[in-house]
Amino acid sequence: MSDEIITRLNSARAAALEAVGRAAGASELEEVRVRFLGRSGEITQVLRGLGQAPADIRPELGRRANEVRVEVESALAEQAARLREAELELRLLAERVDITLPGTVALPGTLHPLSLILLEIERIFTAMGFEMAEGPEIETDWHNFQALNIPRDHPARDMQASFYFTDDVLLRTQTSPVQIRYMLAHAPNLPVKIIAPGRVYRRDDDATHSPVFHQVEMLVVDRGITMGDLKGVLGVFAREMFGRQTRVRFRPSYFPFTEPSAEVDVSCAMCGGVGCRVCKGSGWLEILGAGMVHPQVLRNGGYDPEIVSGFAFGLGIERVAMLRYGIGDIRLLFGGDIRFLRQFHPTGEGRVEA
Ligand code: PHE
Repeated sequence: MSDEIITRLNSARAAALEAVGRAAGASELEEVRVRFLGRSGEITQVLRGLGQAPADIRPELGRRANEVRVEVESALAEQAARLREAELELRLLAERVDITLPGTVALPGTLHPLSLILLEIERIFTAMGFEMAEGPEIETDWHNFQALNIPRDHPARDMQASFYFTDDVLLRTQTSPVQIRYMLAHAPNLPVKIIAPGRVYRRDDDATHSPVFHQVEMLVVDRGITMGDLKGVLGVFAREMFGRQTRVRFRPSYFPFTEPSAEVDVSCAMCGGVGCRVCKGSGWLEILGAGMVHPQVLRNGGYDPEIVSGFAFGLGIERVAMLRYGIGDIRLLFGGDIRFLRQFHPTGEGRVEA
């Protein structure tokens, strides 16, 4: 009887220790515990059966059975600890940080050069009391052309080939339709004194022309406005934008919606007007088109040209950015190349990072 119990005990012990050693996870360990030490586990059964053992050897068998139970319990605990440690080590291995690697530095973003120029233009004109206005990029043929004295068969349309949705709806080719929209929304209030920046579209694509570009429109309408006012405002703008010594030059030109019209040049900021590569030796740089608002355009906007007059200009922001920062190819402005963009610092000055 006692021999049989001892044999059962020993084989249960051996099986238990072996199973513990093979357990590869917490749930497997728990299965082993239930199998040997659970309510109907193998070792528990032996302990229960001790009642039938002869009284003289019962204490000795009891002691031995308890030893086995304790031994298996501590084997379970040890294996659990080993498994936890192994798991931790694996995790540490996976999450290991190599402190000898160079750190990753979060580079602060910079404003796009076009944004910098636009902010500068806004600063200059709001300081002179101008209001900001906006218009849609998808425009009607009437606002973009007809209301600006450019009927469907007008040759001036050739310079502004655009992208059409229908015969009457297109991507605007200029910010001038904002003149019409603003006047219609505000007539007969005076004065009108706005700048309207925004994106415009033309079917052009080369080193100095992008199919998408930006303009700033300016419009002033009031009683007694003359071309002298236009010259004065442009002089202030040019000196603020390109430096104190900058001079402004008007050349006669033609736009259907201004009369008279002018192309406006500023003296080259690169060479001070002597002549260099940037100004192609002329000493002057063309920056915008301008003129006195055509009487019919005032009428189309709801104003009476017998009572009021006005002036307007349209400025290409890319052109100003290219001149101001010495950028040779307009496509750099739209390429999104970080090495290019990082050179522009919010102070407005180009800066090359080391
Ligand atoms: N809209 C004209 C252009 O894009 C520029 C302009 C605006 C000229 C206002 C005169 C007055 O070429």
